[in-house]
Amino acid sequence: MNILILGSGGREHALAWAIRQNPKCDRLIVAPGNPGMAAIAECADLDILSRAAVCEFAQENAIDLVVIGPEAPLAAGVADALRGAGLLVFGPSQAAAQLEASKAFTKEVCDACGAPTAAWARFADAQAAHEYIDARGAPIVVKADGLAAGKGVVVAETLEQAHDAIDMIFGGAFGAAGAEVVIEEFMDGEEASFFVLSDGVNCLSIGTAQDHKRVGDGDTGPNTGGMGAYSPAPVLSEAIQAQVMEQMIRPTVAEMARRGTPFQGVLFAGLMIKDGQARLVEYNVRFGDPECQVLMMRLGAQALDLIHACAEGRLDQITANWAEDHALTVVMAADGYPGSYQKGSEIKGLSSLPEDSFNMVFHAGTGQKDGAIIATGGRVLAATGRGATLAEARDRAYGLVDAIDWPEGFCRRDIGWRAL
Ligand code: AMP
Ligand code: GLY
Repeated sequence: MNILILGSGGREHALAWAIRQNPKCDRLIVAPGNPGMAAIAECADLDILSRAAVCEFAQENAIDLVVIGPEAPLAAGVADALRGAGLLVFGPSQAAAQLEASKAFTKEVCDACGAPTAAWARFADAQAAHEYIDARGAPIVVKADGLAAGKGVVVAETLEQAHDAIDMIFGGAFGAAGAEVVIEEFMDGEEASFFVLSDGVNCLSIGTAQDHKRVGDGDTGPNTGGMGAYSPAPVLSEAIQAQVMEQMIRPTVAEMARRGTPFQGVLFAGLMIKDGQARLVEYNVRFGDPECQVLMMRLGAQALDLIHACAEGRLDQITANWAEDHALTVVMAADGYPGSYQKGSEIKGLSSLPEDSFNMVFHAGTGQKDGAIIATGGRVLAATGRGATLAEARDRAYGLVDAIDWPEGFCRRDIGWRAL
């Protein structure tokens, strides 16, 4: 098969790494890719938000399967355009991607199918939103409805913070994504992520993970895109996974099909767990980053068989084979992230590191300059270990971190603490 992966982050490097190992993969192209991916695939300079450009490229290169990594091309309808051109795609349509692109849409779907989630209300008008908050009290959660690069959510501990959040969102901080505000009940508990493939009808669990959103050790400091992850997440017991599948995932997939907009791709449920019960925080319609790195480390080559079966609507004919293993990834970020940071610092020591099914450094925000690897983003590398125990996986991941010579970068030293 000739396979095209869209994206350039650590998530897409992990997808490429797993897919490359499968003998069914002939030609592997990533667009736009990064220097880490360039070692295992061809990188193509392509505007992945342009439906026409992606379709033309896929046809010219006789691509058999397109795997879409990030949410932006999904929300832009790139999957629809590719399917319209007769290509096989892994990733939801623009209509089904609303499960991530609009928080109010997701809440409506949850209400329609009975999926457990926080009580909520939507507002297109600041005055009514302020009154609702005064009536409800704090803590309370204020969200811009649309895609805001993970920054559109304020967990307000006081009424003042909640009112400020409403003014900020309606004040245009997130542009069109803030045309509507969703206000939610604050949910207490432990967060974890559950990943399910759906071909529109069938659902197949492909694992659990836990992210670390705060920038600092001990879960302190501002939120980030994710500073590290591990899989499996023991807080998601078999019993809770079964509950989530029956009360949340299957009803959501059925409701999307009933609406005439079936969901095909990976459904990433962000969950809040308390007293043995899970409620939905949010859906994403793509793999998490860095959660994908630990899932791919554990799935290896079979990831392609699963993704292919999903794209072809054959998920009822395949299962995921899990080893009794654990994976853990540590994100290395540029000093200053998630605030402002410098680009261009050199990263040394990467070429001498082991690269095998137990040790892998995935590239996220890297570039190449005069033969050297340089940092070009906030989150730059994901040092990933796999082992028979979580402690073994952690030791491998930090072993990689400690062998990387990059004085301008930092990482958390406590990834996995909840489970260790
Ligand atoms: P979201 O983008 O919806 O996942 O929200 C980002 C983060 O805000 C989540 O990962 C949670 O930590 C937090 N959050 C969102 N909604 C709620 C809620 N209703 N109760 C508590 N925390 C929440
Ligand atoms: N790491 C969280 C996300 O990808 O949304």
